[in-house]
Amino acid sequence: MAARVIEVEPFDLVVFGGTGDLAARKLMPALFQRDLAGQIPAEARILAVSRRDLGDEAYRGLVQDALRRHLKPSEYTPEALARFLARICYLAVDAEGEAGWSELREGLRPGAARVRAFYLAVGPDLFAPIAERIERFGLITPRTRVVLEKPIGKDGASARAVNEAIGRVFDERQVFRIDHYLGKETVQNLMALRFANALFEPLWNASHIDHVQITVAETLGVEGRAGYYDTAGAMRDMVQNHLLQLLCLVAMEPPTSLEADAVRDEKLKVLKSLKPIGEQEAGSVCIRGQYRAGASGGAAVPGYLDELGRADSTTETFVALKAEIANWRWAGRPFYLRTGKRLAQRVSEIVVAFRPIPHSVFEPASPVAPNRLVIRLQPDEGVKLWLMIKDPGPGGMRLRHVPLDMSFAEAFGARNPDAYERLLMDVVRGNQTLFMRRDEVEAAWAWIDPILAGWKASTERPRPYAAGTWGPSSAVALIERDGRTWHEDSGPEDAP
Ligand code: BG6
Repeated sequence: MAARVIEVEPFDLVVFGGTGDLAARKLMPALFQRDLAGQIPAEARILAVSRRDLGDEAYRGLVQDALRRHLKPSEYTPEALARFLARICYLAVDAEGEAGWSELREGLRPGAARVRAFYLAVGPDLFAPIAERIERFGLITPRTRVVLEKPIGKDGASARAVNEAIGRVFDERQVFRIDHYLGKETVQNLMALRFANALFEPLWNASHIDHVQITVAETLGVEGRAGYYDTAGAMRDMVQNHLLQLLCLVAMEPPTSLEADAVRDEKLKVLKSLKPIGEQEAGSVCIRGQYRAGASGGAAVPGYLDELGRADSTTETFVALKAEIANWRWAGRPFYLRTGKRLAQRVSEIVVAFRPIPHSVFEPASPVAPNRLVIRLQPDEGVKLWLMIKDPGPGGMRLRHVPLDMSFAEAFGARNPDAYERLLMDVVRGNQTLFMRRDEVEAAWAWIDPILAGWKASTERPRPYAAGTWGPSSAVALIERDGRTWHEDSGPEDAP
């Protein structure tokens, strides 16, 4: 069944960083898909800007190449491509100087009613200078919004500085901080699963859940982003934002509505309830790793330090940690988080591991494994509920642990839209539900900062792991010393 498409209002979208990687890989393909779906009205325009001196035609050529690289040929026709490219103009603008700003003002459609969005797909050091010029050149209208790409700062202090600079120019209602994980289909489904079904919510607490695992594993390495990545590492690049946001959606109380602030208030409470991990503890409950040479997809791949061209980096490409939420719902029930580059498999999933039944009449003949709910974000989006059932046949009461398995591709058959498609349309619609509020970002940093400080103060280096494995052995030890194991899709029979 095709999703219902409602056309958004006409808009001017200004993309700073128009010649950058994000625009080519994500923004332009996402806008193209929405155009193709009929969601973008004829009067809407995209103004790409960057420092490079290019004309409209040369820029459209770059976009065309990018679409060819990132979309399947079956996804577009020459007519659709021509219509999309005709919406795009290019302007050379100096984010830190004066050049190009007056031309940008001339290039925007006037009128208080028209939606105007500035997408800052640039490094955070440019957020403040761009915001200041947007104001000084009189580009803000009542329906203007600004979109900030992560990272928002590199710690709590720098995030506050960014937020303050943005806050001097824009009202918080106009600020859209992107965490693209919130736009993923299955992440949204987490809310549907929890709050549109009577089944789970009564069990969604420490009395019935043993622990939660959140894994975001990638097989790719740093892919030409080593310069940025080496200043960030997995903790800042993934845990501070994507993994903590997933944790919030699993752990939060039911919001009073789907209004942006109702949802964000609940997420904020979770972030504030995270039990602090002190500098002293950081080394034992937060494992960091760095990949060495190994194999990925059957091919030999170099180690992180070789890709970076420096032997002394202590940047982590892997993190596994144990978080605890000090509130009534979750006290004593750990959330194990794990993410890394060059791991054995590309898989992002949330595993909700229920507690064992209080008494079994089937043992010792048949052990009873606890239930697990596995929400697979990617690839193969879907939900599996692991249950005990009787092995068919007359051979007595033998039990098996098997999943009730719902694959979204099989159930719905539709193309799974990229997160940026939804998020960009939400910006135009002015819906902030899937965007991070200032206090959320700062609360996440407040929890992360002492861990980073602990790592920095330590003389230990990140633990090495071979590319193509599941990370350092200490990440396995982290969960096993609590008598638990990382979930494997073959089945959690070995779970406590
Ligand atoms: C980005 C990180 O935010 O998310 C990248 O900067 C990472 O390092 C990416 O590869 C993962 O996103 P996805 O959607 O491919 O899981």
